[in-house]
Amino acid sequence: MGVFTTRTIFDAEDARYFAAKRLPKLVFDFIDGSTGREQAERENRLALQRIKLQPRVLVNVEDIDLSTEILGQSSSVPFGVAPMGMCNLTWPKSDQTIARQALTRCFPHCVSTASSTTMEDSRNLSGENAWFQLYAGTNRAASDEMIDRAEAAGYSKLIFTVDTPRLSLRKRDVKNGFQVPFRMGPRQIFDFATHPQWALRSLFAGPPKPMNYHTSTTQSAFVRGDSRGGVDWDYLQVLRDRWKGELIVKGVTHPDDALRIRDSGVDAIYVSNHGGRQLDSAPAAIDCLDRIREAVGPDCPLLFDSGVRCGDDIVRALAKGANFVMLGRPILYALGAGGADGLASFLQHLENDLKSVMAQIGVTTIDQINRSVLADHSTGNNHD
Ligand SMILES: Cc1cc2nc3c(=O)[nH]c(=O)nc-3n(C[C@H](O)[C@H](O)[C@H](O)COP(=O)(O)O)c2cc1C
Repeated sequence: MGVFTTRTIFDAEDARYFAAKRLPKLVFDFIDGSTGREQAERENRLALQRIKLQPRVLVNVEDIDLSTEILGQSSSVPFGVAPMGMCNLTWPKSDQTIARQALTRCFPHCVSTASSTTMEDSRNLSGENAWFQLYAGTNRAASDEMIDRAEAAGYSKLIFTVDTPRLSLRKRDVKNGFQVPFRMGPRQIFDFATHPQWALRSLFAGPPKPMNYHTSTTQSAFVRGDSRGGVDWDYLQVLRDRWKGELIVKGVTHPDDALRIRDSGVDAIYVSNHGGRQLDSAPAAIDCLDRIREAVGPDCPLLFDSGVRCGDDIVRALAKGANFVMLGRPILYALGAGGADGLASFLQHLENDLKSVMAQIGVTTIDQINRSVLADHSTGNNHD
C-alpha cells in the first residue's frame, strides 16, 4: 500500500494498515485485539458483509442529505464515535481531535469513563456533541462522583455500559504486558524504540492517563481488571432515578434484556457486543439488531456498533432497525495512522462512501433507509 499520506486513507482497511505500521505492537494490539480467539470480532464484520443491499435505478439522487436526528439532537451524519478509553495512546491529544471533529462536523462522540482527557475538557471542546459513558463498579462513591461531574459539566446524555461484568481475557494484551496506567519495562522500551515515529511524539507528550480517575476526589484508581459484577437491575433503577438527562444502555444483545431496559424508563438502547472484546462466542451484533427492533417496537431509539467499517455497513445497520450507528476501532486506526489529518481524511471518505452507497440503492435521505433497501427483503433472508 506504500507510504502514508492522508490521501491514502480511503477506508478503515487503509487506516488499519498504516496504524499497524506506525504504532508499537502493544498499542496496536490494544486497539485491534478482542477476546478469546477473536472470532466474535471477525463475525461482527462478516455478518455485516453477508447482508446485501439492493441496487435501484433511475431515481434522481442528485442531492443526498446525510443529516439526521438522534434523541432530539441534530447530527450531520447518521454515525458518531463510540466510547473508547485511552485514545491518546494512538496520537497525543486524540480525544481533543475527536471532539473538534465532532464539533465542526456536528456528530455525537462518546466520552469514555476511561478517556485520557477529562470529561470536562471534552465537553468544553464539543458542547452538546459530547455524550458521557459510565462504567459503574463496586466503588459506588466513585461512580456517583462521575455521574455528578457529568451533570455539572453539562452533559445531557449518559451511556451506561453493561456488557463488561469482568474484564475478559484479551490474550494479546496479556502477552504484551499492556497495563493502565501505562508502565514501561524492557519489552515496552524495545517496542517503542522500534517505532520511533510514534515514540518521539508520544513520549514527548507524556504517557496518557485515565484522566477522569486521575482527577477524582474519591481517590479511586483505574484498575482495568476491577470487577463490575455487582452491577445489576437494581443499580439500573438507582441510576435512572439519579440521572435526570437521557439515559442510554450500551452492550445489549438479547431482546428480553432490551424490553426490560426500555420498560425501566431508559431513553435508548445501544445494541453492541463491545466489538467482540468481551465474549468470543457471542452472536454477531448485527444479527441481534432485527430481533431487538422487533421486540421493542418502532419507537424505541436504537443505537448500534460492532463491526461497522464503511458506508455499506452504516446503511446495513440502519436498514436492520438502528436509528444511529457508532464506530469504534476505525476511528483509532485513522488516528494511529495519521493523527488529526488521518481522522479528517477517514471521516471525509466515509461520508463520500455513504453518499455513493445511498445513490446506488436510490435513496436521498436517511429516513428512507429501511428494510426495503435490503436484497431479498420480502423473505427477510439476506444471508448467503
Ligand atoms: C480501544 C478500545 C477501547 C474501548 N473502550 C471502551 C470504553 O471505555 N467504554 C465502552 O463502553 N466501550 C469501549 N470500547 C468498545 C466500543 O465502544 C465499541 O463498542 C466497539 O469498539 C465497537 O466495535 P468496532 O470496534 O468493531 O467498531 C472500546 C473499544 C476499543 C477498540
